[in-house]
Amino acid sequence: MNLKKFKRYPLTFGVTPIEHLPRLSRELQGNLEIYAKRDDCNSGLAFGGNKLRKLEYIVPDAIDSGADTLVSIGGVQSNHTRMVAATAAKIGMKCRLVQEKWVPHYDGVYDRVGNILLTRLMGADSRLVNDGFDIGIRKSYEEAIQAVKDEGGKPYGIPAGASVHKYGGLGYVGFAEEVKEQEKELGFKFDYIIVCVVTGSTHAGMIVGFADDNRADRVIGIDASATYEQTRSQVKQIVSNTAKLVELGREIKDDEIIINPDYAYPSYGVPSEETNDAIRLAAKTEGMITDPVYEGKSMQGLIDLAKKKFFPDGSKILYAHLGGAPAINGYSYYYKDG
Ligand SMILES: Cc1ncc(COP(=O)(O)O)c(C=O)c1O
Repeated sequence: MNLKKFKRYPLTFGVTPIEHLPRLSRELQGNLEIYAKRDDCNSGLAFGGNKLRKLEYIVPDAIDSGADTLVSIGGVQSNHTRMVAATAAKIGMKCRLVQEKWVPHYDGVYDRVGNILLTRLMGADSRLVNDGFDIGIRKSYEEAIQAVKDEGGKPYGIPAGASVHKYGGLGYVGFAEEVKEQEKELGFKFDYIIVCVVTGSTHAGMIVGFADDNRADRVIGIDASATYEQTRSQVKQIVSNTAKLVELGREIKDDEIIINPDYAYPSYGVPSEETNDAIRLAAKTEGMITDPVYEGKSMQGLIDLAKKKFFPDGSKILYAHLGGAPAINGYSYYYKDG
């Protein structure tokens, strides 16, 4: 496998810590040892998160293209667009964003706090659009790219979640490489890795990275899109493209891609009672903040799979914490009593 041949523009602090979560571990059935890889603390750029690992491999291409404006898309409380806005600020480009109405959620300040507040603060030109949820390439996104051209700018398009971009999967191949190095220091290997999946390139990159030592099927994707088929086919496509790019040297089989659809209900961006209980448990046992859109759902998956004895007794599990906490401010009513 060859990741080093790709240019990487540093946006993160470097290797992210792996933290043992003993109090959360004790709450779960099966004598499990839970650890978190804290990609939520990976950068000083606007609270960080998973998109920065991906953008590190995309920025060199944007700079080489001669662009002056990064263009991207997400929901109103998108973490991704926050990260693109931060990256644009950091590298001295303009930023044009489309923020669609992906979530049927009506908290009074939803479009003024959390991610969108930070995004505006960093100078991005963020336009609200009324279209609903879809992880694919959108008309509004293509129109935004065209609009920048019409205004005389040089746009560089980054699709939702930086996923369906030729280099979108590379960042999380790097995550797998990093975990393997950390496992050497820890003196053990993780039996399972839990990761939230929506637009797909985070999970896809990990699948390719861990396929290198035949552990792809130990990466358990927890779907938070509630459009499982589309997410699965996007993951598959990114896996195939990324495996070729890094010269993995083999095809990845369908049964190496594990995505559990059971925790995405009631819909993308809306937490269930069980999601909120999972968020509360992680917060109360470890002071670790997860959000109602992504990480709360993968935390719920981890807790429920433990309860169902999916993990053999004594398993060591790595929960990939991908960030996203700023969005919780848009959901204040759920947590008014804690
Ligand atoms: C905090 C957080 N977790 C998980 C995900 C899912 O990652 P991906 O879109 O690469 O599947 C995202 C982005 O969509 C995110 O912002």
